Amino acid sequence: MTETNTPAGDAGTAAVLAVLAWRLLRLVFTPFHRRVWVYACLVLGMAERAHGAGVLGATALASPLAWWLLRTSWAPASAWYAARETEHRAGRYSRERSQAARAVLAHLNLDAEVVVASFPFGDELTVRIPHGGTRAQVLNAAPALREALGYLTLNAADDDAPGVVKLNGVTRDLLSDPLEGPAPVAADGWEAAAGSWVTVALDRNGKDVELPLFLPAAGGLRYLIAGASGSGKSSCQTQLTVAAIRSGARVWLADPKQTEMAGFRPWAERYATTPDGIVEMLEALCVEMRARQGALAGQFQSCWTLADGPVVLLVVDELSAVTMCGDKKLKERGLRALEDLAARSRSAGITLILTTQQPTTDVIPSVIRSNLDIRIGHRVMTATVSDVIIPGSARDGLGAPHDIPGSYDRSGRLTCAGVFYLDGMGPRTLARAWYIPQAEVPDILTGAGVLPVVRPAQEASRDRAPSPTSSAGEPDAARPERRPRRRRTPAPGA
Ligand SMILES: Nc1ncnc2c1ncn2[C@@H]1O[C@H](COP(=O)(O)OP(=O)(O)O)[C@@H](O)[C@H]1O
Ligand SMILES: [Mg+2]
Repeated sequence: MTETNTPAGDAGTAAVLAVLAWRLLRLVFTPFHRRVWVYACLVLGMAERAHGAGVLGATALASPLAWWLLRTSWAPASAWYAARETEHRAGRYSRERSQAARAVLAHLNLDAEVVVASFPFGDELTVRIPHGGTRAQVLNAAPALREALGYLTLNAADDDAPGVVKLNGVTRDLLSDPLEGPAPVAADGWEAAAGSWVTVALDRNGKDVELPLFLPAAGGLRYLIAGASGSGKSSCQTQLTVAAIRSGARVWLADPKQTEMAGFRPWAERYATTPDGIVEMLEALCVEMRARQGALAGQFQSCWTLADGPVVLLVVDELSAVTMCGDKKLKERGLRALEDLAARSRSAGITLILTTQQPTTDVIPSVIRSNLDIRIGHRVMTATVSDVIIPGSARDGLGAPHDIPGSYDRSGRLTCAGVFYLDGMGPRTLARAWYIPQAEVPDILTGAGVLPVVRPAQEASRDRAPSPTSSAGEPDAARPERRPRRRRTPAPGA
């Protein structure tokens, strides 16, 4: 390079300097900061050659140091830097994985493009089928890819697009690792729209498992959640209830253990803990259901829509509190109400979540069971019980709740807490649920800006503690049945 002192030469040097300075600035703000020093020296050298521009060079040299000082001593700068660093690492991870996968495929004479996206439980590999190649060739390469990339399993996904094969590589075992971090429904950005689908779990391939609260063409849903004590039945139940409240549904809760859903109490339109309180609540919901059906019939409409009013969510935390109740008359009333709801609630826009740790035919009689659409089976002990939760599961080879392995760890928690088989929403799926401790529920709902339900003072006091002398509202355990038995009126079909 020859030295030039013409105005054009000065302009050229200035342009080169400007480009280099811009490049330097960009590099200072990326995680490639080590290379900044090289660029800085270059700039300095150029500046020395262009007379009197040494100040620029010195500034360029000092700028990385200034940025380093800024990001180590100013919190917003360090947070921004950490986010960029994470993004950069994820990019590098994906790049390295896709290069490794491409090398394995090239070794097998497949010249295929591979894009890798990472998920909490592993990666999704999107392999573009090469010209002249076939899907089968890519699938045959899966064992070699699994070995080279160190996945526990690598299986074809069922959502292939034309010309590509998607493979799910699992790096963490679903059965041994509880999910960490807040459940998606507890996150700030959760879209609380009525009729939303709620991300409650991850499946074996690390993909989201979503459950609906309401379906436009069907109405409400009827869930059965069953599993041994401590198997994590509250996981999906709590997430669906949080979602329902956030999306403006009216929530009615039966909490016989008085602890399982206590965090929801201020947001529940009705909350009952005693067997007769629960039965009365179920009967009141039957009345509500008939009123809704009457309104639909008047408009020649077959199914509730969200324009007709909010969804009502009924959660019965332990079904045996009603169906195995010692008081025969109460039990009969409860069973009748449950039968009625299981058969007809759907089209009235009522969603049911019935939970039990004793999934036997006594606790959930078949007339009720046969109407439940979605079954969530956590760990149970025997094949017979699996069959009650998911009919046929003990023998159909698609996976059954009694197959879920688990043991107690030192803290007394079941290692498989939150693992469940989902049946009734597409193919049977093994999944691990996110967990929301009950104590966090009030903060989540308050944080989401949901106001507690304002109940009449009289009703609120009846909700507080069962008292044998209370005169209004829900009856409680210590009080004998105070209403004449309600006659069941035939309701229009569901
Ligand atoms: N999805 C989950 N992930 C991790 N741990 C869980 C999960 N669900 C439950 N647990 C743990 O297991 C314990 C029992 O869960 P819980 O849902 O109350 O059981 P159940 O209602 O089936 O008796 C909880 O206190 C929690 O520590
Ligand atoms: Mg429970």
